[in-house]
Formats: sequence, C-alpha cells, structure tokens
Amino acid sequence: MGVVGGDVSDPVRVGIVGCGAISGAYLKFSREFPILQIEACSDVDQDKARQRALEFEVPRVCSVDEVCHDPSIEIVLNLTVPRAHAEISLGAMAAGKHVYSEKPLAVSIEEGNEILTATRQKSLRVGCAPDTFMGAGFQTARKLIDDGAIGRPVAFTAFMMCPGHEHWHPNPQFFYESGGGPMFDMGPYYLTALLNFFGPIKRIGGAASIAISERTTLTGAKISVQTPDHVCGTIEFQSGVVGTIITSFATRFPQYETAQPITIYGSEGTLKVPDPNHFDGMVHIRRKDDSEFQVVPSPFHTGYGRSVGLAEMAYAIRAGRPHRAGAEQALAVLEAMEGFLESSKTGRAIEPQSSYERPQPMPHEPLWLSE
Ligand SMILES: NC(=O)c1ccc[n+]([C@@H]2O[C@H](COP(=O)([O-])OP(=O)(O)OC[C@H]3O[C@@H](n4cnc5c(N)ncnc54)[C@H](O)[C@@H]3O)[C@@H](O)[C@H]2O)c1
Repeated sequence: MGVVGGDVSDPVRVGIVGCGAISGAYLKFSREFPILQIEACSDVDQDKARQRALEFEVPRVCSVDEVCHDPSIEIVLNLTVPRAHAEISLGAMAAGKHVYSEKPLAVSIEEGNEILTATRQKSLRVGCAPDTFMGAGFQTARKLIDDGAIGRPVAFTAFMMCPGHEHWHPNPQFFYESGGGPMFDMGPYYLTALLNFFGPIKRIGGAASIAISERTTLTGAKISVQTPDHVCGTIEFQSGVVGTIITSFATRFPQYETAQPITIYGSEGTLKVPDPNHFDGMVHIRRKDDSEFQVVPSPFHTGYGRSVGLAEMAYAIRAGRPHRAGAEQALAVLEAMEGFLESSKTGRAIEPQSSYERPQPMPHEPLWLSE
C-alpha cells in the first residue's frame, strides 16, 4: 500500500469491540490513514483482544464497557457478530461515542430504526460497512452511469452464488442464524453498490428457501440452518431501473463472471461491474456501436482497504460535513434485505419506508490528500 500524507494534527481515537476474523483487515488498513489512531481492543473473549493488540501494537486491551466509557475514545468500531451489532452500537452511543459498525447495521428494521433515532437525538455519527463502494471500480461505474455513457439505465443483474462460508470461516455459526444467510452477509456489498448507482428503491419482491438445512464446519461440528440460504430478489428503483439479485450459500460452479458479478444494461450500452466485496477491479463497457467490451481506465484512487469508510467518517467529523458510509444508507440496505425475506413469506411486494439519498462521489485523489 502507498505512503500516507496529510497533516492531521488531531487524529480521531478509535476503540475496537470485536477482535475476530475481520478485525485484522481494519487494523492493517487503518494504518494508511493518519486521521485514525486505534487506541484500544476489546472482545468478550479477552484473549482475542490481547492477541490482536499484540499483533498490531495497539496500546491498550480493555473490557467493552471500558472502551465505551473511555473519554479519549471518539469512535467505537463495532466488529462483533451481526446479532450483537445493535446492542453494542446503542450502548456506545448511550456513552456518547460515534460508532462505525460492520455490516449489517442491525438484524431487524426495528433495531436499525432505533440506531437512526439515537444518532439524531444525540447528534452522534453512525457509519456502517460496506465501504467497498468507495473503491475505484464502483466510483468509475457510477460516474459512467451518471455521465450517460450507457444511455438510460434500464436493468441490472447481480449474483453472489457459492456453497457457503463454513468451507473457510473458523466460526461460521452466525452465517446460518437470523441476521445471517447469504443476503444479510453478502447482500450489503451488492445493495450498497446498486443504491449508489441508481438511488432510492421504490419496491421490492423476493423468494427464498432453506436449500441445505444442515452444515458441517471445518472441525466437523454440525450447524442447523435457521435462515434462508438461497435468496432471490427483484428491485424497482424510483429512477425506473428494474433488476434481479440472487444470493446463495447453496450452489456450486457459478456460471456468471465472478470477477464482474454485476451487469448494468442501458438503452445505449452495457457495463460489467467488478466484485463489490472488493474495492478495485475493472469496469468494462460496450456501447451500441462497439464490436466488443472495452476496459474503462479509472480516474479514482486504487488501493483502499477495509477502514476507508471509517477514515472518511473521521475526516467528516473533523470537517463537520456528512460522511458517505452513513446509517441511512445502511438502513436502506437493511430494509431491502428484510424486504426480500418478508416478501418471500407473504408473496407481497414491499415498499421501503426510509428515505435515502446517494452520498457524494469520492474524490479522484486519495482521501488523505483531498481532506
Ligand atoms: N470475516 C470476514 O471476512 C468478514 C468480512 C467482512 C465483514 N465481516 C463482518 O464482520 C463482523 C464480524 O465478522 P468476523 O468474521 O470477524 O466474526 P468473528 O466471529 O471472527 O469475530 C467476531 C468477534 O466478536 C466478538 N463478540 C461477539 N459478540 C460480542 C459482544 N457482545 N461483545 C464483544 N465482543 C463480541 C467475538 O468474540 C469475536 O471475537 C460480521 O458482522 C461480519 O458480517 C466479516
């Protein structure tokens, strides 16, 4: 990764809650941003907190409560499992902290609304993963759509189809609980990208199933699947774009291009969009007179990793402007994900109730130079 710059004389101090698998990525990439100072690690399992603190030279290991009540800490970084997200985020806000949470924002719309209410009542920030939409691939695709490069956007397809995370994750139970499943786990990457492309959602429909009801972990333990492991949805955006999303933990040998799992069809051409679980990756375009797809060079910074959303929120706090990976966006994602499951049960279309506005595009230069 590149050399960082920027004169940030007043870094934002961050305390981590949840030192499992994904915490390593945050601890690694947060070093890129001089605005971030990771001050403390905590976890219900103190050994995990100690291990991460040692590995990344974090000054302190604390209890969750100590992190939330430490006056030097401004942002609590919530990297716990989905079912704990709302409790930890609300607890941190009750103690006066801004929060940046891993996805999903919460496991129900009620919890999500509680978080939104708390941010407004307490004038605190909540940011939420994914932040991959800030990467060069998605910003490039969004710019092409906004510039009219494919004419009027008409349709999209978005696919994430795999056999399930128990094949690699050391502790995969939560992927098969309520608040897990392929839509709650992987849907946020796709839905956040789609919201950034097309704006607010008008209506959605869904169909879902539990296709493989028992899973075996790497250690041979059995998991009983509690939530649909195969979820299909249709989305109608207010802009008129209509498309399909399929997320599955029950399928093998995908037949779409896994490096470009989203396709956007417009009246004048088609875009192939990179994997929204990553930041960069190539965008291809074919306009109506082209004989084949061509790579689109990106004017945006490449090389961001997990923590750019956190850093962008920290810069926004210091600058007093809105941050991009906002709670409203995460709530719009949550409403869509829950809507697919609800529609699958009732057979009815769902109209989201929350309001959503696309965040500003990212600057072309790295954040640490533009802030
Ligand atoms: N693993 C990945 O590749 C990955 C990628 C992107 C996002 N995420 C997201 O990150 C979050 C964490 O995933 P993970 O893979 O790191 O899970 P994990 O199980 O490896 O780690 C979660 C950690 O949170 C701790 N924890 C759970 N409840 C807690 C509580 N109430 N208080 C304090 N600590 C608590 C656990 O002890 C554990 O160490 C999830 O929301 C997941 O969707 C994971």
